[in-house]
Amino acid sequence: MQAQGKPAQLRWGIAGAGGIARRFCRDVNQHGTLGQVVAIAARDQGRADAFAQELALPLAFGSYQALAQSLEVDAVYVAVIHPEHAALIKEMLLAGKHVLVEKPAVTRLKDWDALVALAHERGLLLLEAMKVMCFPAMRTLLARLPELPGPLSLRAAFGSVQSREGKLFDPALEGGAAWDVGVYPLWLYAAFCKQLGLEAGKPEVRLQRAPGEVDLSAHFTFDGAIRAELGASIIEDLDKAAYLSGQWQGQPWTLVIEGKWWNPQGVRWLSGAPDAPWAQEIALPVAGGGMQHEADHFAHCVAEGLLDSAWLPQALTRQVLGWVERGLTPARD
Ligand SMILES: NC(=O)c1ccc[n+]([C@@H]2O[C@H](COP(=O)([O-])OP(=O)(O)OC[C@H]3O[C@@H](n4cnc5c(N)ncnc54)[C@H](OP(=O)(O)O)[C@@H]3O)[C@@H](O)[C@H]2O)c1
Repeated sequence: MQAQGKPAQLRWGIAGAGGIARRFCRDVNQHGTLGQVVAIAARDQGRADAFAQELALPLAFGSYQALAQSLEVDAVYVAVIHPEHAALIKEMLLAGKHVLVEKPAVTRLKDWDALVALAHERGLLLLEAMKVMCFPAMRTLLARLPELPGPLSLRAAFGSVQSREGKLFDPALEGGAAWDVGVYPLWLYAAFCKQLGLEAGKPEVRLQRAPGEVDLSAHFTFDGAIRAELGASIIEDLDKAAYLSGQWQGQPWTLVIEGKWWNPQGVRWLSGAPDAPWAQEIALPVAGGGMQHEADHFAHCVAEGLLDSAWLPQALTRQVLGWVERGLTPARD
């Protein structure tokens, strides 16, 4: 029975006891307001038990199937490596669970279309966990975007030096820069275009990739209504701030999304900051790692009976997925 005046809490289960799962669990259980992680599932009972003990969870399952069958879980956060996402999403949807899946949601457009259709058919919510879109600083910037004088251009990247032995360098595990981190700046660009009702267009894609290997870096250039230079790398540390520029009264202006831009804590004017109302700085730091915001947004959508989200639209996942899939296609020939 629900406490009086307290909104219904979404009961989360996590599939995969890895790195990001821990962060999600901590953020939701320490800082979330609309849900609680109650269960962890791993391919191995011992790993699930250890995770549950470490994070004080009441339920630990030694298989993803057991999580799917649990009556004590409403929604599953899919936090396994991305080649496993599609099959696991399907299993959870067929078991009646809402699904929030880590990025990249899947690595085949046709899989996303089929899974979204299945979710809609079953009356369940399926969203990609593009957490940056749910940070308060990003929501505020998006709300103010229409006031910013254009034409706009965006520069954003996500790159860091990763272990050569790790999964990201394995083509069989769909590693590579574009799938792992390229999706972040592509989402940012897609969200800006959507917010302004502008056609996103198609990118010119440059890859650093040897035959049979993963892309070590990927660069996406858009030349449309918003110009964009978007980078991704798994071998190089790239700038962690994102920059949006435009023109006002013949003068250029630039704002910077600060923090690591994919965990945005604020927005500051770098240059050309006039005393215009639209040039106000934004300072909205988050508690913890900030993943509670996507979890709370997801829970809100479930409570409202929504099958899609205005903040994490399934169509944007589709758009980004398509750009990456097409950009990488020659590797699959
Ligand atoms: N939003 C973010 O900030 C963020 C950050 C990092 C990663 N991610 C995304 O989150 C997902 C997980 O990333 P991660 O870094 O947390 O991964 P990870 O720790 O390397 O692995 C996560 C889990 O994948 C599971 N897994 C299932 N099948 C596997 C297989 N065949 N080989 C190896 N592992 C397998 C394992 O689950 P068991 O515990 O059941 O063995 C493992 O614990 C990815 O989609 C990644 O892109 C998101």
